[in-house]
Amino acid sequence: MKKKTVSSSVVRFEHVSKKYGSVRALDDVSFEINAGEIVGFLGPNGAGKTTTMRILAGFFAPSRGKVWIRGIDLFRHPQKAKRSLGYLPEAVRLYPDMRVAEFLRYVARLKDVPRKSRNIHVQGKMALCGLTDVGHRLIGRLSKGYRQRVGIAQALLGDPDVLILDEPTSGLDPKQIAEIRALIRTLGKERAVILSTHILPEVSMVCSRVVMINQGKIFASGTVKELESCLKDRQEISVRVKGRVYRQGAIDLLKGLPGIEALRMREEPGEELWFIFEIAREEDPRAQITQLFVQQNIPLVEIQRVKLTLEDIFLHLLQEGRFARRPS
Ligand SMILES: Nc1ncnc2c1ncn2[C@@H]1O[C@H](COP(=O)(O)OP(=O)(O)O)[C@@H](O)[C@H]1O
Ligand SMILES: [Mg+2]
Repeated sequence: MKKKTVSSSVVRFEHVSKKYGSVRALDDVSFEINAGEIVGFLGPNGAGKTTTMRILAGFFAPSRGKVWIRGIDLFRHPQKAKRSLGYLPEAVRLYPDMRVAEFLRYVARLKDVPRKSRNIHVQGKMALCGLTDVGHRLIGRLSKGYRQRVGIAQALLGDPDVLILDEPTSGLDPKQIAEIRALIRTLGKERAVILSTHILPEVSMVCSRVVMINQGKIFASGTVKELESCLKDRQEISVRVKGRVYRQGAIDLLKGLPGIEALRMREEPGEELWFIFEIAREEDPRAQITQLFVQQNIPLVEIQRVKLTLEDIFLHLLQEGRFARRPS
């Protein structure tokens, strides 16, 4: 019986694990990517992002598990499946002594773009990536931002359904980063994109969905909105106190308040102490805190409600593990 996936997913990872010798880089990773999605694979260094991208690109096989590309088993029918994939590796290897257009025509030939339409095809990708004016330039002479565009253009040759980008903005300056992100958003309108990143804001700026990974395991996934709603019944309050001698007194007061959780403290340079805690969203303990601190003569310099950012969510999910095993 021919095995086919029933869902509309373009990419499907099924229980993928990867070991390098005794190092377990990926541990039972499953996720799907649908047409029209830009998925951000988010995790700290060493999380397993590059390993995932390489497996997805068919660069090497997993130790366990399966990868389906449009219902085709990537490691059973690699040639066929890889036609749907375009890959920008983490450290892309381009030919510095080739000219941009020449290099792209060469890759187009390797990817079996028909000879007749090859020039037009290459020109189209150059235009899409903003390379038209540098077609005659040597790749080695281009800025890093332009080299990255060449890397993306080569990944687009052959019109793959899925674009795999491993840390596409790393090592670029802020202007180049903004340009590459804008390009990725444009590309995502026509094809599925998966990109890896360790930069949180990148995900909310570029991606329609996030898969969070740490130590080779997925621990949360969903749209940015969905992840935010995990914590929508919570809020954070931050309290600043002047004078390190008040440390214990402040902790005692805050701990005594009803319903506060996850109290933590940061020492700021100078004399300030900064306390942050969580409390149910409908509570507003600010007036009570002010009153208590005044009564105890503890100099309160600031009290604020803090909006939870994606970064907070990432850290919360990571530390608490209480949303682990959220379905993808
Ligand atoms: N070729 C390799 N040999 C041995 N260990 C590796 C190799 N590549 C990656 N690793 C290990 O696998 C883990 C995941 O690495 P990687 O996928 O590169 O993570 P990321 O891209 O998220 O930084 C890390 O612990 C890393 O040290
Ligand atoms: Mg990496």
